[in-house]
Amino acid sequence: MSIPRYAVIGHPVAHSLSPRIHAAFGRQLSIALDYSAIDTAAEEFDMTLGAFAASGGVGANVTLPHKQRAARACATLSERARRAGAVNTLTLRGGEWHGDNTDGAGLVRDLTGRHGLDLRARRTLLIGAGGAARGVAPALLDAGIGDLYIVNRTSERADALADALGQPGRVHPRYLADLKQFGEFDLVINATSATRTDGLPDLPMSLVGARTAAVDLSYGEVAIPFLAWARAAGAHDAIGGLGMLVEQAAESFALWHGVRPDTDPVYAHLVEHRASLVTAD
Ligand code: ATR
Repeated sequence: MSIPRYAVIGHPVAHSLSPRIHAAFGRQLSIALDYSAIDTAAEEFDMTLGAFAASGGVGANVTLPHKQRAARACATLSERARRAGAVNTLTLRGGEWHGDNTDGAGLVRDLTGRHGLDLRARRTLLIGAGGAARGVAPALLDAGIGDLYIVNRTSERADALADALGQPGRVHPRYLADLKQFGEFDLVINATSATRTDGLPDLPMSLVGARTAAVDLSYGEVAIPFLAWARAAGAHDAIGGLGMLVEQAAESFALWHGVRPDTDPVYAHLVEHRASLVTAD
């Protein structure tokens, strides 16, 4: 019998750590699996997904820039994927794709479990309104953060995300250019992909206070500018996205294989080999 196929689909995706993480989970639990990385451009996403299913693909992670497109490709969505309007985990069910989103649960588990943060009532700033931002916003609200401010280069997308979250008294879309007026936040999350291309947007240090936790949802080289800004501004915590990556992978693995791996040894191994991750995306 052939081994079921899994993959991470993104663009670019060559340096993704997901194949290594899922292979490590499989070894830990003695589950044989074939997990690869598939690079596909936005306009070819649906075709690539069809070809993957035809070649024995039964599950896939989706990463930038395809998370919102993946939601549209699904026959059914989990409640959290529907709220996010973005999918990072696809599972083939009866010949059709079911979409879920484990990003938010992964982030909350990393911040509260691994980093020991209490998220309750934290005044939060989310920078970005693309697939990554959409994936984490519902889980942050469910985890009990206080007011959520959302800014984005394209302000309409911040408005659309705020509308989708549906809590007008608590969720506030604002202009990126007005950041100086908002005062300090207890949690600042960079969910943009800006440093991959143009560099970090201009962020005033007034956003950060002595108890602020700053979190970048990406890891490796692209996370460095935001985390360096946060440290320079005096943030209490500056946390990259590696822990979230491992936690969202574990959530996906549990959906596919019915058993949750132990993430600590896999995270520790990746941190130990951090030098080789510097070019990862
Ligand atoms: P992802 O899955 O990483 O969220 P995405 O859906 O393509 O990928 O979203 C990328 C995010 O980074 C968006 O919030 C995008 O802003 P726009 O909605 O205006 O495109 C943001 N982003 C990308 N490049 C940026 C830049 N140079 N400056 C500011 N924001 C940027």
